[in-house]
Amino acid sequence: MGKTSLLLLTACLCLLALSNGRELKAKQKSHHAFYNHTLATILAEYASAVYVSDLTELFSWTCSRCDGLTKGFEVIELVVDVEHCLQGFVGVAKDPNAIIIAFRGTQESSIWNWIEDLFWKQLDINYPGMPDAMVHYGFYHAYHNTTLRPAILDAVRRAKKFYGDIQIIVTGHSMGGAMAAFCGLDLTVNQNAQDVQVMTFGQPRVGNAAFASYYSQLVPKTIRVTNEHDIIPHLPPYYSYFPHKTYHHFPREVWLYSMRYGSLVYKAEKICDSSGEDPSCSRSVSGNSISDHLIYFGFPMHSDSSTCGFLMDPHVLGYSVRDQGGNLIFSREPAASLLEYSNGIENSGKAS
Ligand SMILES: *[C@@H]1O[C@H](CO)[C@@H](O)[C@H](O)[C@H]1NC(C)=O
Ligand SMILES: *[C@@H]1O[C@H](CO)[C@@H](O)[C@H](O)[C@H]1NC(C)=O
Repeated sequence: MGKTSLLLLTACLCLLALSNGRELKAKQKSHHAFYNHTLATILAEYASAVYVSDLTELFSWTCSRCDGLTKGFEVIELVVDVEHCLQGFVGVAKDPNAIIIAFRGTQESSIWNWIEDLFWKQLDINYPGMPDAMVHYGFYHAYHNTTLRPAILDAVRRAKKFYGDIQIIVTGHSMGGAMAAFCGLDLTVNQNAQDVQVMTFGQPRVGNAAFASYYSQLVPKTIRVTNEHDIIPHLPPYYSYFPHKTYHHFPREVWLYSMRYGSLVYKAEKICDSSGEDPSCSRSVSGNSISDHLIYFGFPMHSDSSTCGFLMDPHVLGYSVRDQGGNLIFSREPAASLLEYSNGIENSGKAS
């Protein structure tokens, strides 16, 4: 009962707000200067694109998901860690004028096994240099101990050399969101990057309360977008009666939800409190949906292929290096080689 009337009250306030939308927006902006809805939708497009398995289309930014608000993005590094089934890219965008780093999440075919694992997953390693901070070994290693980290750091260096000290924004969905958080922290702590921004979608918890506290001081410009009943942000579990012993999200959550009146549905987003575990955001509902995990802001957040396989044409091989583990790294110098590459496509088109 109490919940229903609260919902109704919220609904009424929202309707009031709609009639007076301008004022509400201005108010939100002053409180949360760094949450920007347009930016969130742009970053969701990048987080969706990094799942694409056609490496030629992804590297040349011609895939069907490489469109809309991300048009003109220049990929300078694409890393495919074949051994661990991971994928990420680094590139430079015009709006926002920033280096964008994106990480792919887990492949869909294994999502149930993955969810079961997450239910029982212990905090299993200490985050180096942060007393009492413990994190999830698998997420930590996926970023720190695979081909991804060295390739990404190298690409960031190259981009900065060419474009100067522009902002770095890190994004990712699901496990890719967890990796984005570790990357943002690594750039801040170990690479002296300033003002790094992190925006994740449907991200699981990655560490304990001590870790969340260090993290939020070091990378304050972090937004964790959660969607409706998405199950993954509820995992690994948080036990409110053991707040310091279990996993604990870092702030700041932005929860996407809908309000229904009969057949009418209003989409809303809630900017949550600074605790990381705001009980009135996604924690106010049961996290029981996979489908809410697989779509954010209307963008598909899963692979177009059910395995770790990938496609590429011989044309992009010239940009790639394969290590002993079979992992692939495609790279090119900022700006200059973009032209060379598009010429290449034209030529190969004529030849065929
Ligand atoms: C929000 O982000 C978009 C995309 O980067 C940008 O064009 C716009 O100016 C931003 N708005 C504010 C108020 O910062
Ligand atoms: C994993 O990465 C961390 C940090 O980058 C490093 O300190 C550690 O030695 C690595 N561990 C292994 C097993 O490679």
